[in-house]
Amino acid sequence: MGHRVLCVDNDEARVKTLRDGGVPIFEDHLPELLAKHRGKGVDFTTDLGSAVEASEAVFIAVGTPQGDTGAADLSYVEAVVSGIARHINGYKVIVEKSTVPVYTNEWISRVLHRHGVDAQHFDVVSNPEFLREGTAIIDFLHPDRIVVGAGNERSADLLRRIYQPLVEGSYYNQPGALPGACSASRPAKLLVTSAQSSEIIKHASNAFLALKISFINAVGNLAEAVDADIEDIAAGMGLDRRIGPGFLRAGLGYGGSCFPKDVAAFHWVAQQRGVNFELLQEIRKINETQKDIFFNKVLSALWTLRGKRLAALGLAFKGDTDDIRDSPAIDIIKRLLEAGATIAAYDPAAIERAKATIPPSAKLRYAEDIYDAAKDADAVLILTDWKEFAEIDLARLNAAVRFPIVIDGRNLYKPQQMLDHGFTYVSVGRPASYLAQQGKPRSLAL
Ligand code: UGA
Repeated sequence: MGHRVLCVDNDEARVKTLRDGGVPIFEDHLPELLAKHRGKGVDFTTDLGSAVEASEAVFIAVGTPQGDTGAADLSYVEAVVSGIARHINGYKVIVEKSTVPVYTNEWISRVLHRHGVDAQHFDVVSNPEFLREGTAIIDFLHPDRIVVGAGNERSADLLRRIYQPLVEGSYYNQPGALPGACSASRPAKLLVTSAQSSEIIKHASNAFLALKISFINAVGNLAEAVDADIEDIAAGMGLDRRIGPGFLRAGLGYGGSCFPKDVAAFHWVAQQRGVNFELLQEIRKINETQKDIFFNKVLSALWTLRGKRLAALGLAFKGDTDDIRDSPAIDIIKRLLEAGATIAAYDPAAIERAKATIPPSAKLRYAEDIYDAAKDADAVLILTDWKEFAEIDLARLNAAVRFPIVIDGRNLYKPQQMLDHGFTYVSVGRPASYLAQQGKPRSLAL
């Protein structure tokens, strides 16, 4: 987009990796973009002071983890604001990019004042991100909307200038522009609101998406009880433009570093203001229950777990990422290990990260690929919606396992397709399809 960007982190190893050409996270398009701009448009440093001094806009993008009460822990935001305060050498716009509760903009202003920064020298603007891990680059360049929460025109104008190539559309005609939903004739939309409204737009959007997921999961549980099919139900609901098809995939519930903590933080904000918003608690409860229900499905398909060999396909909290934070897959694997099962786990990207949380042991092996994980398994569990897991060679899988049972927490297959390949197939929100005879046909077993 033509800007100069200085990325600051206090983690020296991370900065060194980035400077040396490494990319510490798994994110589509990021390696090529960094290779193209590293040392030109983008640089990495641990020196916050000189980066702030050289910049017109300072984006705060530090973590806001969940604290004990459910509230977001804002200590990293406060620390970085104190650091920024010492280096304000002219008018700067401080941009909240981290997900923060309403009124954080005021707190940031207060901290800057306390450090003696003149009110003339800064404005604080909220500019939430709506990027999904795995598709963050395309989500950024082709956004549904850009939200700017600014208290005055001066600061809103700087943000308009920053996003101008997307909002006026010139980016989309550039050679090498990444394709997506926006174009020069249909550029990105920018909405200017108050800082408070913008802060709430972020929390409310994430909570609403989490609500859609919990809603479809609850409907899925009902569907199972009455022999209906949640995939058909979601398709039928999603065709209504007012509902929309997105985020209606039933499964193991949402995980990751955003929805669980943001739903809790939003609930905390409402409580603090004396507003009854118990719906947010229900969203969370349904989400938790979803994992219990899946665990019970494994139990009822296998009867007992002690000594059973299970293939776990998936560790990441969703496909296309190596992130295992709050991953339903990890949670389920831990429970199965506690129940005495032996697990061979495979994930296309998240194995290294998973090893740090659940190290390999006599009970847990990290496999080379899907078929290695499935070798001699009593059942295969699909825990993450990687594309690779939706394209398994089912004949090869059947030849690898001990018993042909697939328990799919992500509904990646059609029940009939699995039956045709000789599998008992248990999924979410659909009737289970059991093979008439549970044993493996002799020819396949060989
Ligand atoms: C989410 C939001 O989608 C982004 O808009 C937001 O910017 C981001 O959080 C954030 O606050 O930083 P992300 O956590 O990367 O993005 O992942 P999603 O693609 O939203 O998926 C979240 C979880 O919901 C995953 O565990 C996924 O498997 C699950 N999910 C998603 C479902 O179970 N069903 C669905 O239909 C969709």
